[in-house]
Amino acid sequence: MRIDILTILPALLQGPFSDSIMKRAQEKGLVEINLHNIRDYSTSKHKNVDDYQYGGGAGMVMSIEPIAILIEKLKAERDYDEIIYMTPDGEVLDQRMSNNLSLGENIIILCGHYKGVDERVREFYITKEISIGSYVLSGGELAAAVLVDSIVRLLPGVLNDETSALTDSFQDDLLSPPVYTRPPEFNGMKVPDILLTGDFKKIDLWREAKALERTKLRRPDLLED
Ligand code: ADE
Repeated sequence: MRIDILTILPALLQGPFSDSIMKRAQEKGLVEINLHNIRDYSTSKHKNVDDYQYGGGAGMVMSIEPIAILIEKLKAERDYDEIIYMTPDGEVLDQRMSNNLSLGENIIILCGHYKGVDERVREFYITKEISIGSYVLSGGELAAAVLVDSIVRLLPGVLNDETSALTDSFQDDLLSPPVYTRPPEFNGMKVPDILLTGDFKKIDLWREAKALERTKLRRPDLLED
């Protein structure tokens, strides 16, 4: 899979993809993540990427021109499954959306800033608008990092069997059951006896029951449909 991220702050996105699972996924050639600095495509003398909004009002708006030039260049090189805009008024990200996006070949992700992006970018180029929750971030970069992480870990070969994404919370509309490791007792706090029995059938049933109990308690909305 290839992911092209369009941003005015590429440095903000270098960290999240240069460690651990995201780093290994790129090294293994399972995903190619390209950061593009929108400023490099500005045609103005001072490399501006924003301007005052028509009609007045506080806050700058990201200009269409450098974004359009960059998107047109990428689209001429390959076909894209989605051109995504990270914005608090987008559709709220969930596991199903990440699963669907992980099946694509190429995606573009545009990170917004300031008051947002000129509406014409959204009308003419964007195919999907995604929010990571009902709160406002300073820009779309951290939201893009969350989205990319949730997609890349689903790509075949990225996780090994032990960490398989199939057992994640939400994958079957249930939260994960509690987990424990050694020691079996710490300051009087004991690991549930069942987990020490070696009876994997019973352990599976216990885990299912705990997952259901936790979901009912914390996220009953997941059980509604
Ligand atoms: N940009 C600013 N806030 C955001 C959010 N909650 N989700 C996605 N992009 C954003």
